[in-house]
Amino acid sequence: MIRNAKFSDKSHVLNFCQNTFSWGDYVEHVWDYWLNEDLLFVYEKQFPVGICHGFFSKNQIWIEGIRVDQNFRKQKIASLLVNHIESLGQKNGALFSFMLIDVENSTSLSMAKSLKYDILETWNFYSLEPKKNSNFDIVFLKSFDTTFYTHYVKSWRWLPLDSETIFELLKQNKIIQSKIDGKVSTAIISNSEHFDNTLIVTLFSDSEKTLLQIILFLQNHAIQNNYSRIQILTKEKLFDFEFLEHKLSFHLLRKNLV
Ligand SMILES: CC(C)(COP(=O)(O)OP(=O)(O)OC[C@H]1O[C@@H](n2cnc3c(N)ncnc32)[C@H](O)[C@@H]1OP(=O)(O)O)[C@@H](O)C(=O)NCCC(=O)NCCS
Repeated sequence: MIRNAKFSDKSHVLNFCQNTFSWGDYVEHVWDYWLNEDLLFVYEKQFPVGICHGFFSKNQIWIEGIRVDQNFRKQKIASLLVNHIESLGQKNGALFSFMLIDVENSTSLSMAKSLKYDILETWNFYSLEPKKNSNFDIVFLKSFDTTFYTHYVKSWRWLPLDSETIFELLKQNKIIQSKIDGKVSTAIISNSEHFDNTLIVTLFSDSEKTLLQIILFLQNHAIQNNYSRIQILTKEKLFDFEFLEHKLSFHLLRKNLV
């Protein structure tokens, strides 16, 4: 019933992944990437009726894109797909499985609960409009203490911030910071691998003043580098700012695999 997805599944799958959410769905934009990345599975009756994608990173497996055709829901198809990826994770030494669920998606949250996932953190998603600015007070960090930061967001996956990853991010000037009156805001910048011209930013902020500096920098950085969208993921509730819009909030859920 569960098998690796193949190229010819695409049209069947996109048929039931069009109006998944009130705003539509993103599966059509990522299907080709996921197929290439591997660990894309379908649940097949006579044709595919469910999908799920997994992504290994260090000691964890990331689970995303759980979709079941409306006509086949409540038959444990999603649960079987998730269990399938979890057991692959276990076989490959993953300690944890993670997934991200919209705080308002109660069906999916019930599913995660029934699969023994716990809410680890809640994250807010803001969009920020690019804009030309100058005179922002930020530095590119040369070292970064991760004691309080375990993950950063890359292509909408929360990936572990281990020393190797930090080293690469610092080398590429991807970690910026603003420090004013002993307060700090830090941002980790990455490109979306799946969406064109999209800057994805993981933000940790202590104060409004330092946050403003980061925001001014990001807007200008986007203009200078031809990004048309800036997506900010942060655990904080950000202040009201003309070019900043709160879009959604998500729970980051975790399951111990050992
Ligand atoms: C969420 C979704 C993937 C669940 O698929 P499914 O195959 O119907 O789920 P399962 O049959 O494996 O259900 C597992 C558990 O989830 C919960 N659940 C599933 N559907 C539910 C519903 N409509 N209402 C409440 N709880 C529900 C139940 O706890 C269920 O266990 P139970 O049957 O023992 O009560 C499916 O509804 C879907 O595709 N939704 C739209 C896409 C989506 O939200 N994806 C997740 C994004 S993170």
